[in-house]
Amino acid sequence: MSNIEKKASSPIEQEKELAAIAAVSYIQDQQVIGLGSGSTVYYAIREIGKLIQNGLQLKAIPTSKKTQALAESFNIPIIDSNSVDYIDVTIDGTDEFNEDFVLIKGGGGALFREKIVASMTRKMIIIADSGKQVIQLGLAFKLPIEVIPFASNYVITQIKRLGGTCSIRSKEGNTFTTDQGNWILDADFGHINDPLSLSKSLNEVVGIVCHGLFIGLADIILVGEGDVTHTILP
Ligand code: 5RP
Repeated sequence: MSNIEKKASSPIEQEKELAAIAAVSYIQDQQVIGLGSGSTVYYAIREIGKLIQNGLQLKAIPTSKKTQALAESFNIPIIDSNSVDYIDVTIDGTDEFNEDFVLIKGGGGALFREKIVASMTRKMIIIADSGKQVIQLGLAFKLPIEVIPFASNYVITQIKRLGGTCSIRSKEGNTFTTDQGNWILDADFGHINDPLSLSKSLNEVVGIVCHGLFIGLADIILVGEGDVTHTILP
């Protein structure tokens, strides 16, 4: 398969591209690479394709069907997540992050595989444009929660019990379905001032497959701002 290369066409896209190029410099020959999902990761996948073209032996584990198709279009070899015990480096985007390295992910609906891949990863690199860093989590972006469709009404009542409201995500007039055949609830808890406690409460609700709070998973956050990239370490 071949791909038409997309160039960054706006200041925000340029920030994404800068962060992605910086992230790819952490990759070494013979590594297993986790590929996140989303518009920022596009640039990283494009750059990894160039590494392959230059002779690096890399194998990749994608976090979504869309990412897999994109990676294949850049001739990046794909392997099964069950064929390795760990992933060397993963590059993924985020919807929000705060100074404590807590992320909200799942805007594209790939949060479940993204969390599995992040958990398997030794060096987890998050790439972002300058709009993604927030002081208060959960205000600008709702928290995506992947649920088993059979349990959705029950989970909605449990989210209310925890002080949130939510709606079932739809796309083009239909209920949005994840790569696993599940649904996404976009939950509003207002300012999430205790993400760890909320994460634990959500993990206890039967029917929730995964929620979009990523805590203690990121090792490096690279943020494009104007024409520079900031490297943020925990
Ligand atoms: C998908 C994600 C993405 O990383 C997140 O939505 C950021 O996407 P983008 O780079 O397009 O802003 O979590 O589930």
